Amino acid sequence: MCGIIGVLGDREVAPILVEALKRLEYRGYDSTGIATVQNGILDRRRAVGKLVNLSDLLMHDPLPGKSGIGHTRWATHGGPSEANAHPHRTGRVAVVHNGIIENFRELRMRLNGATWESETDTETVVQLCANYLDQGLPPREAAAETLKHLKGAFALAFLFQGEDDLIVAARTGSPLVVGYGQGEMYVGSDAITLAPLTNMLTYLEEGDYAFVTRAGAEIYDHAGRRANRDMQRIEAQKARIDKGGYRHFMAKEIFEQPTVLARCLGHYTRGGRVVIHEGEVDFTQTDRLTLVACGTAYYACLVAKYWFEKLAVLPVDVDIASEFRYRAPPISKRSTALFVSQSGETADTLAALRHVRDKAATVLSVVNVSESTIARESDLALPIKAGIEVGVASTKAFVCQLGVLANLAILAARQRGQIGAAQEAELIRILQGLPALTSQALALDDTIRRHTGTLARAQTVLFMGRGAMFPLAREGALKLKEISYINAEGHASGELKHGPIALVDKTVPVVVLAPRDGLFDKTVSNMQEVMAREGRVWLLTDRDGAKQASDGVWKVLTMPVIEPLFAPILYAIPAQLIAYYTAVHKGTDVDRPRNLAKSVTVE
Ligand code: G6P
Repeated sequence: MCGIIGVLGDREVAPILVEALKRLEYRGYDSTGIATVQNGILDRRRAVGKLVNLSDLLMHDPLPGKSGIGHTRWATHGGPSEANAHPHRTGRVAVVHNGIIENFRELRMRLNGATWESETDTETVVQLCANYLDQGLPPREAAAETLKHLKGAFALAFLFQGEDDLIVAARTGSPLVVGYGQGEMYVGSDAITLAPLTNMLTYLEEGDYAFVTRAGAEIYDHAGRRANRDMQRIEAQKARIDKGGYRHFMAKEIFEQPTVLARCLGHYTRGGRVVIHEGEVDFTQTDRLTLVACGTAYYACLVAKYWFEKLAVLPVDVDIASEFRYRAPPISKRSTALFVSQSGETADTLAALRHVRDKAATVLSVVNVSESTIARESDLALPIKAGIEVGVASTKAFVCQLGVLANLAILAARQRGQIGAAQEAELIRILQGLPALTSQALALDDTIRRHTGTLARAQTVLFMGRGAMFPLAREGALKLKEISYINAEGHASGELKHGPIALVDKTVPVVVLAPRDGLFDKTVSNMQEVMAREGRVWLLTDRDGAKQASDGVWKVLTMPVIEPLFAPILYAIPAQLIAYYTAVHKGTDVDRPRNLAKSVTVE
């Protein structure tokens, strides 16, 4: 999704802006641009497509100046074109924007004398601000006045003609940080954007705006009152972003999973007992748990439903955030709402959280970015400890989300008297064994790589599983379609013959996720139905399962033996590897798949 950088430097800023835009690439984008002020003159360069196009343009047509703003755009209003690329500007002001100005049509009508260059909502911000400048307001006041008229979600950075030492930054709904350097100041979408420049940051709060100069930042709250916001030192490792020798971030993140999962699980257990701020999480007072998320995080919630219901005998609803927020789900004061989000900034998940804020007894979140808005607006935020995830297709965050949710389900089971100390210790022992088992599962890497050529040629791939493996089937399908663009669907094994089996013929690979559990025989029957229709089955099961059910199967991937309850954590690994190598075979842009964004900060 769109990314913002702003620099008031003591050197030429164009190269700094381009480097920062590189660090924003992982969020997904389809055009880029920068603007600078040099001796008071505002100018810009923009290019459609990859960042290299902007770099090439700057080689031939450099943009001098020590003050500048830059942007990666993920198209919402108006297609990816140079005219729609940011920065937008009039002669007097340039703006970069992340989010959506929801009242842009109304503003366009009000600004009826203006000449419009683009189809974007953002251009209304520029025109409105230019209007105030024309009325004689100085830049700071013009920007502040503009902000009062905007509705929607936005992070904005303004740069002005004639002002070599001013960026106005504002946030409502979309995150923005101010960074402090040696004689330089920065504005960025997140800590990663500013990583090599500074690790001293201030996170702007909802409704804040800041007048940033080389001398520092004056921050004001939504009511225009001067606000004091903490400056934080971000751990260097939190902002480090490299591929560590792997070809793609996704591969690196898949292979990090044993380490990050061990870190995550270790964070929540001590001496055979779950340790989570007990005062803040009390499942004895809860009669319903509502889990809300988007994308991969939503599938983590669906898996967790099986755990909370089975271990804690707690009724669970799971909802997609964009649906939840516009329904009228009855939320009682005895319910707990839990929001799962890698980024902690997904617009729909955040809106859903705000929707239940005063309705549910407790609002919890499970996040990767501890400084995120969702984390800050929850009663308690549980970090997943996965480290920065760059690949758009979420891998290690999914596995760590499951790690936290499993611990939470065990805590709920204990608090609600469903398990005793011995059972709790046993469940934790099983969880603690998972990092080693995920390492073993990663040894399937080469086998999967060698066999995914056939998947890469398929038009349709089906995934199936029962019980907690059903949501994993959906996650496996999502992973594959996100990065290989193959039509993939995940189904409950028992549901196949109610429709999806109509798709099966000899060209359709069917990935069967079947640890040897109480439902294994039933899944095998469903698999036989697929094979009877010439579907090419990839069976993921353990040694005993493989012995029992390999006949006629096209490919068996033998997994380590695992307690079935927690099998989705382990079986996520081959599902990710299947998606990864299929995409590599197809030659797609694995880390930056078309049309997708890492952090979806618009509705
Ligand atoms: C986007 C990403 C997905 C992610 C989803 C939810 O669609 O491409 O990988 O699962 O957003 O993101 P969140 O940050 O809330 O987990």
